[in-house]
Amino acid sequence: MTILLTGSSRGIGAAIHTALTDAGASVIGHGTASGIPADFSDPEGPTALWNAALEQAGGAIDVLINNAGVFEAAPLGDDDWTAQWERTMRINLTASAELCRLAVLHWQARGVGGRIVNIASRAAYRGDSPAHWHYAASKAGMVAMTKTIARGYAREGILAFAVCPGFTMTGMAEDYLSSRGGDALLADIPLGRVAAPDEIAAAAKFLALEAPASMTGSVIDVNGASYVR
Ligand SMILES: NC(=O)c1ccc[n+]([C@@H]2O[C@H](COP(=O)([O-])OP(=O)(O)OC[C@H]3O[C@@H](n4cnc5c(N)ncnc54)[C@H](OP(=O)(O)O)[C@@H]3O)[C@@H](O)[C@H]2O)c1
Repeated sequence: MTILLTGSSRGIGAAIHTALTDAGASVIGHGTASGIPADFSDPEGPTALWNAALEQAGGAIDVLINNAGVFEAAPLGDDDWTAQWERTMRINLTASAELCRLAVLHWQARGVGGRIVNIASRAAYRGDSPAHWHYAASKAGMVAMTKTIARGYAREGILAFAVCPGFTMTGMAEDYLSSRGGDALLADIPLGRVAAPDEIAAAAKFLALEAPASMTGSVIDVNGASYVR
């Protein structure tokens, strides 16, 4: 079982990497500090990563997990608001879409099934702050893309799932919490705390390795009931 995992260098991705390797999977990681480097703000980045990963894997990848992403503020008054929109869309959505496309084509060419797990966000359903239109839209796009892939290729054994984390205590979440008044934000989470990266990893591992095929197209929330739907 060979898995390509984007953004495995830190945060949620590092926790997913640990959960998968502990389960015996062979994980090809991606990031600046570890794994194969590829900048998704560069339009060539996703294809370069896929080709390098395929070579490292000896020609067969079984599972793709799109986890890499950015959460950058773009206040409405910023002159570069549109450039910020396009940057977030490219890194969070377009790069994921390109990797999904390459994975589906790869599995079709080999005549085998495969699995995609997309790490989206609670923001896909709930929306986000006024400085994060782009982030919420990118994650909603990821959920819609996941469902489209699930419906389009299920008969070929190609399955697609998404995970929607709420606040998760990584560097990104710490920045967010401090910029929103810290603990006050916890009042909005019935569980009383933000998620731990290994909780998101548990859901991703289940979808990558164990989830029954009939679950394809499903989206798993991991948010302490801060948004229920
Ligand atoms: N933490 C949360 O509260 C939360 C909530 C909901 C959803 N999520 C989602 O969960 C995923 C992981 O989040 P996280 O909190 O673990 O983030 P993180 O700690 O900031 O790590 C982000 C990862 O994405 C990679 N990345 C960032 N910019 C990139 C670029 N331009 N090109 C390629 N890779 C890039 C980073 O690689 P480098 O190390 O090379 O920079 C890193 O591995 C994201 O998709 C995020 O939107 C997080």
